[in-house]
Amino acid sequence: MEKTGHSDRRKDARSKVFVPVVRGRGWSPPSEKQAMFDHIAGHGCFHFKPGDEPRLALLQRRLGGIRGLRVLEPGCGSGPLTEWLARWVEPGGHVEAFDPSAGMLAQAAANLRGVTNVRLSRRRCEEADWPPASFDIVLCFRVFPHFDDVEAVLARFHRWLAPEGRLLIVHWEGRQALNALHAHHGPVDQDVFPQRSYLESALRRRRFKIERWIEDENEIYVEATRQDTSA
Ligand SMILES: C[S@@+](CC[C@H](N)C(=O)[O-])C[C@H]1O[C@@H](n2cnc3c(N)ncnc32)[C@H](O)[C@@H]1O
Repeated sequence: MEKTGHSDRRKDARSKVFVPVVRGRGWSPPSEKQAMFDHIAGHGCFHFKPGDEPRLALLQRRLGGIRGLRVLEPGCGSGPLTEWLARWVEPGGHVEAFDPSAGMLAQAAANLRGVTNVRLSRRRCEEADWPPASFDIVLCFRVFPHFDDVEAVLARFHRWLAPEGRLLIVHWEGRQALNALHAHHGPVDQDVFPQRSYLESALRRRRFKIERWIEDENEIYVEATRQDTSA
């Protein structure tokens, strides 16, 4: 795995343990959006609730056996899913999780204390970089509408994925609820989930084959595989 930038050591007040968060290439100064995520990072709004367990189990079933795989999780936030991914890829697998919000990453570092197969770093997806074919899965959980440049991130995902690697875009609410939620929060009020027709063609243009598209009022689940030629 590449080593970029310098280490930004954050102190977890409860444990007095220093958890390293790498400030990766692709880090840029906080925007209004990042400031908002920094601000809400400690509020626990993204923690999983007991009612989320069936959804988590469904996601695990849909992912299938991922033991030993390398997973990239863009926009991991405070890491509620990261913790589960780390378990599901054991033994031998690795989760590379990143987020541009220092506040979110500090929470993630505290929540993932003692988990040895996760690396956290501070980056924006549009500027991040990894060597080609570094990952078997890219899992965008509750982050896709926040990307400023969909084409640019899909091109990056294609490069970072191994041949036949999988891209997943997952939300636990439908498009309407998701867009309505963002519409009420100033810095993210333009962050809408892309129109299906647009996203389908963007995925094909970026050489992804769409394998599953499940969309209703409760969820969005898109699964695509990386192709070498146009799909
Ligand atoms: C709604 S939160 C979800 C966090 C986490 N995935 C979860 O489900 O709890 C969205 C996250 O995306 C991050 N984010 C926003 N813009 C991003 C970008 N351009 N690249 C990567 N992450 C981004 C935010 O900092 C925030 O932590």
